Amino acid sequence: MVKREGIDVLRRVICYSRPYLGRIALVVCASILVGATDVASAKLVQPLVDKVLQPQDRALIPLVPFFIVLLFAVKGSGKFVQEYCIKTAGALVVQDIRNELYSHCLKLSLGYFNQNTAGNFMSRILNDVGVMQRATADMLVDGIRESVTLVGLLGLAFYNDWKLTSVAFLVLPLAFFPGICVGRRIKKNSKAGQAVLGDLTAILQETFSGMKIIKSFGTEERERDKFMRENRNFYHFIRNVALYDSLSAPIVEVLASIGVAAVFWFGIYRVINGVITLGQLFSFGTAIIMMYVPLRRLIKLNNTAQTVMGAAERVFEILDHHPDITDAPDAFSMGRARGEVVFDHVHFAYDGQTVLEDFSLHVSPGEVVALVGPSGSGKTTIVSLLLRFYDVQKGCVSIDGHDVRKIASESLRRNVALVDQETFLFNDSVSGNIRYGCPDASEEAVRKAAVAAYADQFIRELPAGYDEIIGDRGVRLSGGQRQRLCIARALLMDAPILVLDEATSALDTESETVVQKALGNLMRNRTTFVIAHRLSTICGADKIVVIDNGRVVEMGSHAELMAARGFYHKLYEFQFAGRNGEMASG
Ligand SMILES: Nc1ncnc2c1ncn2[C@@H]1O[C@H](COP(=O)(O)OP(=O)(O)O)[C@@H](O)[C@H]1O
Ligand SMILES: [Mg+2]
Repeated sequence: MVKREGIDVLRRVICYSRPYLGRIALVVCASILVGATDVASAKLVQPLVDKVLQPQDRALIPLVPFFIVLLFAVKGSGKFVQEYCIKTAGALVVQDIRNELYSHCLKLSLGYFNQNTAGNFMSRILNDVGVMQRATADMLVDGIRESVTLVGLLGLAFYNDWKLTSVAFLVLPLAFFPGICVGRRIKKNSKAGQAVLGDLTAILQETFSGMKIIKSFGTEERERDKFMRENRNFYHFIRNVALYDSLSAPIVEVLASIGVAAVFWFGIYRVINGVITLGQLFSFGTAIIMMYVPLRRLIKLNNTAQTVMGAAERVFEILDHHPDITDAPDAFSMGRARGEVVFDHVHFAYDGQTVLEDFSLHVSPGEVVALVGPSGSGKTTIVSLLLRFYDVQKGCVSIDGHDVRKIASESLRRNVALVDQETFLFNDSVSGNIRYGCPDASEEAVRKAAVAAYADQFIRELPAGYDEIIGDRGVRLSGGQRQRLCIARALLMDAPILVLDEATSALDTESETVVQKALGNLMRNRTTFVIAHRLSTICGADKIVVIDNGRVVEMGSHAELMAARGFYHKLYEFQFAGRNGEMASG
């Protein structure tokens, strides 16, 4: 019914329910109770027909309604325990999977995230895990309850007339075949549907974060069409799932009716010939008819299992992706670094596309190094290697003589701070955002950082001051204000090494001046890497490294490089000829 790897996926899903075995045991007990009441009601048909309805046993009649209510009361309580326990167990399992998935995502390298959209990840964590939850709960409830009921009813049927039951079971398996074929199609379609749901989530995520661009370009209609197209695409797969799912029951029903017809025809003969009593035939018939519901549910269960597997495969795809940047077993926690940084014959490529070749650079503690070069020359890549967002392929990057791959990530993060163009702020208060890297920092320290970042004044002017909640992406602040908050955040971290990647590029000249002053405070007594396309902002660097195509083409102070009249001189002249201080670079 289910292929080998399918069974493995299913087993993995079931593994997550291990901590909740107590609840599941309760479900099994309740299921047995529910199943037993079903069997009992089928069994009681025989004495009802053979004894109670006979004139001599009329005395038993008043008991009949009592028994009916009792049976349903027992069945009802069993069902309640069953549903409640299994649904909570399902929700707990899903909570665990979601937590694991989220934690796992945080461990994966940036490289992995570059290959997938944010919406895709969100969809897997929300939608696919959600599908797993609904479907596994159904599977457990129905699987346990219906199997118990079925086995009981089967026993009863055999007990009443084993020959008749055997005949029934020669014909009934006929009904199973279409179920299997249908299940396969359901899995294919539901997995495809989940993938489309991922695309839909990606579109939504893009739309809501890029609303300003959409409005400014007036592309609402195009975006709407894109969304509607994907949504229709989603419907296409869901429709197929619905089609196969709804088709399986009627097919089974019609095929089963052929069996049932044959069996009853044979049964009536046996009553006429005196082999069984009428009560036995009725009881048998009731058992067979009652079997229909669990049987149909079990067949449907196969369809549900296929849906779970489709979703589970998508979830496990992420869980099975091993983080490629992890702490070495012998990783050590360094204290506060002095701030010496060495790139030693570094070679680096993104997916085979070489960016850095034999790149070497020595930076002394406290030195300010500017990386200059055309867009795409590899400046961001160089600092990403220092932050260990990626690992070098050859050579080594070291801090104070220690290979960054040997430094525990937690201590690396404490020693290197990044401020870049992307002034990402969390949906939290101003002080919460400044405190992001050091949650234990005092109010006093936060304020001091804000003052040094030239942010204190505008923060005080906010209605709630430091407690003001910043919108999702800091929409209520200007670019310069956001950047100053990011600088305060880095200041509070007080890392000995600082990376400024185009930190002022997105700002207008006026805010740049303030941000530049804030950066001056931030850079004091720190080894600093500055990447900026406005050359005026880096004239004061101790060392300017000119990069082209991932190689160092020139190195020296501003004065030296200007005197050399090489690449840097050309860039500088070009920029000032343009007068606006901009250069086609980034
Ligand atoms: N995540 C990535 N995956 C693949 N290629 C990348 C990635 N990031 C940058 N690149 C490529 O690496 C080269 C250097 O990029 P980058 O270091 O960002 O340059 P710079 O910061 O100097 O503009 C470019 O050709 C760019 O296309
Ligand atoms: Mg860059």
